[in-house]
Amino acid sequence: MTGQTSNVPVAGVAMTAVGVAVIRARETARADRLYADPLAQAFADAARAGFGEQRWARLTALADQFYEGRTVGVRLVDDRFRAAVDAGIGQFVLLGAGLDTRAFRMDLPARVRIFEIDLPETFAFKEPVLDRVGAVASCGRHVVVADLRSDWQKALLDSGFRTDLPTSWIDEGSLGRLTQQWNQRVVTTLSGLSAPGSLFGASRLIAEPDGARYRELRRMVADVAPDVEVPLEPVAEADFDIERWLGELGWDTEFRSWNEMVAGLGRPVTLPDPRIGTIAAVRRAD
Ligand SMILES: C[S@@+](CC[C@H](N)C(=O)[O-])C[C@H]1O[C@@H](n2cnc3c(N)ncnc32)[C@H](O)[C@@H]1O
Repeated sequence: MTGQTSNVPVAGVAMTAVGVAVIRARETARADRLYADPLAQAFADAARAGFGEQRWARLTALADQFYEGRTVGVRLVDDRFRAAVDAGIGQFVLLGAGLDTRAFRMDLPARVRIFEIDLPETFAFKEPVLDRVGAVASCGRHVVVADLRSDWQKALLDSGFRTDLPTSWIDEGSLGRLTQQWNQRVVTTLSGLSAPGSLFGASRLIAEPDGARYRELRRMVADVAPDVEVPLEPVAEADFDIERWLGELGWDTEFRSWNEMVAGLGRPVTLPDPRIGTIAAVRRAD
């Protein structure tokens, strides 16, 4: 094993990134995979020893429960990402990047620059693994160590982000974890940083925060035993009216239902609620 075991995020929100890497590793191993993320297994292998056997079994069981929907979600974001590159966008910001490896795995052109924002504990684990396996990004990659609840704008600008270029903002599960107040602040901040033509894809999830898998996720994040009850997250995502906010902040929005987006992917992930989907937003010229 490596000497990184002490850096493994075994609890806290950064731990959720390990779960998503496990999901991407599982997808990558399939013959009918929707995408390939060869680095995901390296992250899973590096994390495993830090978790210990029982906790790892809990994490992988949880990843299994989220697998179908989450892995299709990765593919949908890949498709949006490529479409944005093809449309000429060169600046991307991952809000809560976790163990994302798009800078390495998508063969993106050198003109593309990806800014990865996440907490220090995420990068304390991620960067040594990338170094150890010798991963080389095909495009520009900027690590932005910041908490989205603090002044992440300064950290982003200090990393070389340009406000005069259109940006594609990617939220793949982080905004849903912030309180509504912080969601609003993040959206307001990114709107102020967005040149005309910028893109933002926000998920509208009708969360089941009381469901068994979400309860177990909260327990693992809080680092408590499987039978301990943990409080619900403060925001029900169904109340998160990002479409209206984006409109007021100068974005044109279009809702795309999840069922419509996954129709061609051949996976059993359609949902009974047609309100679930993505709000695709384009920044208007002022
Ligand atoms: C479910 S993971 C998803 C990671 C990545 N987007 C992916 O799909 O693999 C959520 C990520 O958001 C990060 N995150 C949560 N709250 C954050 C905050 N306040 N500031 C920065 N990052 C945060 C976590 O550390 C974690 O890496």
